[in-house]
Amino acid sequence: MGRLPEGETAPGDGRLPEGTPADGPFGAYIHVPFCSVRCGYCDFNTYTADELRGATRAGYPGDVAAEIRLAREVLGELGPLRPMQTVFFGGGTPTLLPAADLVTMLRGVTDAFGLADGAEVTVEANPDSIDAAGLAQLRAGGVTRVSFGMQSAVPHVLAALDRTHDPARVPQVVEWARAAGLEVSLDLIYGAPGESLADWQRSLDAAVAMAPDHVSAYALIVEEGTALARRIRRGELAAPDDDLQAAMYEAADATLGAAGYTWYEVSNWARGDRIARHNLAYWRGHDWWGFGPGAHSHVGGVRWWNVKHPAAYRDRLVAGRSPALAREVLDAETRRVERVLLESRIAEGLAIDVLEPEGRRAVAGLVAEGLVDGRAALAGRVVPTLRGRLLADAVVRRLLP
Ligand SMILES: C[S@@+](CC[C@H](N)C(=O)[O-])C[C@H]1O[C@@H](n2cnc3c(N)ncnc32)[C@H](O)[C@@H]1O
Ligand code: SF4
Repeated sequence: MGRLPEGETAPGDGRLPEGTPADGPFGAYIHVPFCSVRCGYCDFNTYTADELRGATRAGYPGDVAAEIRLAREVLGELGPLRPMQTVFFGGGTPTLLPAADLVTMLRGVTDAFGLADGAEVTVEANPDSIDAAGLAQLRAGGVTRVSFGMQSAVPHVLAALDRTHDPARVPQVVEWARAAGLEVSLDLIYGAPGESLADWQRSLDAAVAMAPDHVSAYALIVEEGTALARRIRRGELAAPDDDLQAAMYEAADATLGAAGYTWYEVSNWARGDRIARHNLAYWRGHDWWGFGPGAHSHVGGVRWWNVKHPAAYRDRLVAGRSPALAREVLDAETRRVERVLLESRIAEGLAIDVLEPEGRRAVAGLVAEGLVDGRAALAGRVVPTLRGRLLADAVVRRLLP
């Protein structure tokens, strides 16, 4: 998330190459680049109030509306507009904006493109920036799902992550969300400095006790350029320990599995069919338009990304230009490699025939080592085992020699 890739310059009018296929499922990601403080571990594209250089939170829905008009024009040239299957408000902290602003942006995309029947509409929320009335307003405005940044239930772990919410607040917001008729997901992080396996188990138990529909559990990544990375370099904090993080992943899979959640992507578990359809669409390589500063988009093998700063984003749109900074037109080999990278991490798995002969030959060895499921492999798919999920990067290296 830190630096944007280089790519080729994107055209000022945002046009896509003639003949870009624009069919198949379609979704929208709407980035909300604001946080009240920056957590020490986070390198997402987000800005505190004093970093906005003239851009404003209040003006943001208007800026996004301008990009929605552009998207309609650009995609309208390629064929009939497709209704949104999923819409995802991510951050930053979307809930730092009033619920009415999120609903306005949702109405903006759905008025422009339409919303498919049964569409999934998710908002990421920090537990301390939303209340019962806000959640009810989101539901009434068409939101179907809320994803709370719980991270941990243990005060010293939350403090190590610079998280400001009181852990007792999480069951409260979950109850409000459910009363409003929203599906609930919880985000957890494991491997924070000073977190023991027992601390992590406490967080898992607390998460399961709230009976969410969905849980994401991410290993803490020390991103270059963050305060966390600097503090580890100075020796003030210990770097995450790989063996402990592996044990924590196993504990997550065991606790969530016992509580009726099934993994469907390395870091994601759901009850029944409550998977995050928006994220699954990324992993399947579907099309989406990412609105907002720094947002990435993908349509028919063309990938582009917007300028990062909210002021630069707004200035481009005000000048009638596309906010896209650069783009890549993916060739067939790049798309194949991406499919392997993404689909070998999901429970649906990767079709073996996507692999080159050498990668295909590696599958038998991966099965023998217990990294890939033998029965799925016989049926023509590469699906990682629990051990394979723990060593997902190593599995990919063997599949892409
Ligand atoms: C960018 S946040 C947006 C939601 C909200 N602002 C929050 O923090 O809860 C989405 C999720 O990414 C995860 N995340 C962010 N930085 C991470 C890191 N360095 N390592 C692991 N997970 C990270 C956190 O679990 C967080 O809930
Ligand atoms: S609240 Fe979320 S997006 Fe904001 S800095 Fe913290 S982890 Fe990053």
